[in-house]
Amino acid sequence: MIQVDMVQSPLAWLLLLLGVFVFVAQRVLRRPPEQRRVPQSTTQPFTPRAKQQPEYSEDAYYDIEPLHGLKLESEQPIQLRTFKPKYHLTMALENTTMSDLVAMDNTYESRIKLRSDLIRDNKYDVLAHRPVVGPAVLEFYTWMLEYLPSRFPTVYTRTPTGLFNTVTNSTLPHAITDTEQALTLLGSNVDTDFLFLLPIPATDPNHDPASEGPQYRLEGFVTCFPSGFSTRSKLGLSLSAIHTPVPGYAAKLQKSMDRFFAALPVGRIVKRHNWTVTTRPDLFATSGTHIHSDDPLAEADALLEEEEEDVDLSRTVLRCERQTLHRLPGTRALVFAFKTYTYPIGQVREEGSGEALAEAIEGLGRGNVPEMTVYKRQVVWAPKVTAFLRGGIDG
Ligand SMILES: *[C@@H]1O[C@H](CO)[C@@H](O)[C@H](O)[C@H]1NC(C)=O
Ligand SMILES: *[C@@H]1O[C@H](CO)[C@@H](O)[C@H](O)[C@H]1NC(C)=O
Ligand SMILES: *[C@@H]1O[C@H](CO)[C@@H](O)[C@H](O)[C@H]1NC(C)=O
Repeated sequence: MIQVDMVQSPLAWLLLLLGVFVFVAQRVLRRPPEQRRVPQSTTQPFTPRAKQQPEYSEDAYYDIEPLHGLKLESEQPIQLRTFKPKYHLTMALENTTMSDLVAMDNTYESRIKLRSDLIRDNKYDVLAHRPVVGPAVLEFYTWMLEYLPSRFPTVYTRTPTGLFNTVTNSTLPHAITDTEQALTLLGSNVDTDFLFLLPIPATDPNHDPASEGPQYRLEGFVTCFPSGFSTRSKLGLSLSAIHTPVPGYAAKLQKSMDRFFAALPVGRIVKRHNWTVTTRPDLFATSGTHIHSDDPLAEADALLEEEEEDVDLSRTVLRCERQTLHRLPGTRALVFAFKTYTYPIGQVREEGSGEALAEAIEGLGRGNVPEMTVYKRQVVWAPKVTAFLRGGIDG
């Protein structure tokens, strides 16, 4: 047979090899420069891709859309009104782009001042890392030095030695090898909180052999604006252990969260929002926004009434987080990022969203996890806050 003869002939083999070589060379040369910058950790040149599946690639990290016209002073904060009449504990993710990772507005200067103060005075609570996460933090820091001036050229500019922040007049140097320094610089130049997660190795005593895929745990963070807990106390904990206090998490969310985190491909980034009402406006809140089942408030009605009296409507805010999750292409760590927004409930009422928010507050007890009313202290603040939102009483 002809084919067999061809394959057996040394000349045919040579031609075949030459063909493969030319094909590979063409592919490499055709790649844009951005794509060669990062190691090709996930794509194998000869793996055929299924047509229907979306293609995620490392190009996504360098395909950043610039906001040339951005003027921070006149940029209003995003107004998130994502509450629904019934509260359902779900992932509720939407797809987004790497460009969308950080959002900036006219609160930047005061926020960044607060963040720097917190990192100086409350470092134990707001910034920590374990040695294993160093390479991931440095990978992200290096990428951010490209991302920030590409996305926000009116705020951050490139210099020969690093990145210049035109608001604070500080410089973020390129050559950084210290994880804590990288976290400090990120935390005090970007108004977004960052948490870094890595898979628990199979050899680790905390690895759960019953889990289907790899389980992720928190290895490092800079979070200046926690909403009622100490991020420090979560260091080293798995996703499920982090969420132990959240009612309904284990039953409703844990499996799908673990699966989602394990499978998130390089190049895909997702976004979600959550909301609550807090009776204190402080952005840095390590306690006071939740009631846990071992709390005396969870039972005593008298205590509850006393707390209810204390609700100060002028200090009460709608608090929202805009969260994203993506994977780093080199170290394959997951980066969970969030920006916190607070809106005085007086503003929510004035704009005409009072009834919708009051309904959503009552809806906390009408969804798939009615225990949310206790967990979010709704039982304490709801009567007064809903009356105010509906115009029945004034602040
Ligand atoms: C986001 O993208 C994934 C993968 O392309 C797709 O399966 C999913 O349906 C998309 N989600 C939404 C909310 O559009
Ligand atoms: C940054 O430098 C500019 C120009 O020198 C100056 O006007 C501004 O006050 C400085 N800002 C800070 C925060 O130091
Ligand atoms: C939003 O969800 C995160 C967990 O994903 C939680 O830590 C945080 O307290 C929530 N924040 C608000 C404002 O509800």
